Amino acid sequence: MTLQEILKLAPVVPVLIIEEEAQAVPLARALVAGGLYALEVTLRTSSALDCIRRIAGEVEGAVVGAGTILTPSARQAAAEAGAKFGVSPGLIEGEGLDGPIPMLPGVATATELMSGLKRGHTLFKLFPANIVGGVGALKAFASPFPQANFCPTGGVSLENAPDYLAQPNCVCVGGSWVAPVDAVRAGDWGKITELARGAAGLRR
Ligand code: 3PG
Repeated sequence: MTLQEILKLAPVVPVLIIEEEAQAVPLARALVAGGLYALEVTLRTSSALDCIRRIAGEVEGAVVGAGTILTPSARQAAAEAGAKFGVSPGLIEGEGLDGPIPMLPGVATATELMSGLKRGHTLFKLFPANIVGGVGALKAFASPFPQANFCPTGGVSLENAPDYLAQPNCVCVGGSWVAPVDAVRAGDWGKITELARGAAGLRR
C-alpha cells in the first residue's frame, strides 16, 4: 500500500505509547474493531519494536507503522520489525522518499515544507498542529503548496478533529486520545473500541 492509501484507511491514525509488549495485540485488536486500521506505535518505549512485530504478525486488518522515528537506523529497525510506514516529528537529515518504508515527516513551517517537497514528500505530519496554527496553518499552506497534504497531529481531539478534516488538504488526523494510557494500563479494551468507533465515524 502507498502511504496515501494507508492514511486514507480511516480519518484518524491512533498515536500509541505501549509500555508492555503484552498490551500490543489486544490494543491493536480493540482499535481495529472500532474501525481504525493504520496504527502508529511510537518508538518511545523499550518494547515498541516488539509491539510492532507482534501487531504485524498477529492482528488481522491492522496496518502498523512506527512513530517517533528520529534517525535512519530507527527507520530501518522499524521496517525490519514489520512496520509498513514511519512517522517522524520532523525531517530526518539526508532522508527522503526512498528508503525501507514510506515516511510521513513532520513539518511546522513553510521552509520545512519546502525542504520536504524537495526530497519528494507530498504528505506531511503538521506538528505540533495546535501550536503551529491549527486549521489556520492548513489554510495558509493550501495556496502556496497545493501539492502538499497533511495529517495534523498534536493537540487533536474528537472535538476539534472535524475542523481539520473539513480542510481539502487534510488526509487524516493523528492523535493519542483514542488510546488513553490509563485505559491501556487497565486493559479496558471495550473503552478503546468505543473511542475508536467515535473517531472512525468522523467525516472527511
Ligand atoms: C505525539 O507524537 O505525541 C502526537 O503528536 C500525539 O499528540 P497528542 O497526544 O496531543 O494526540
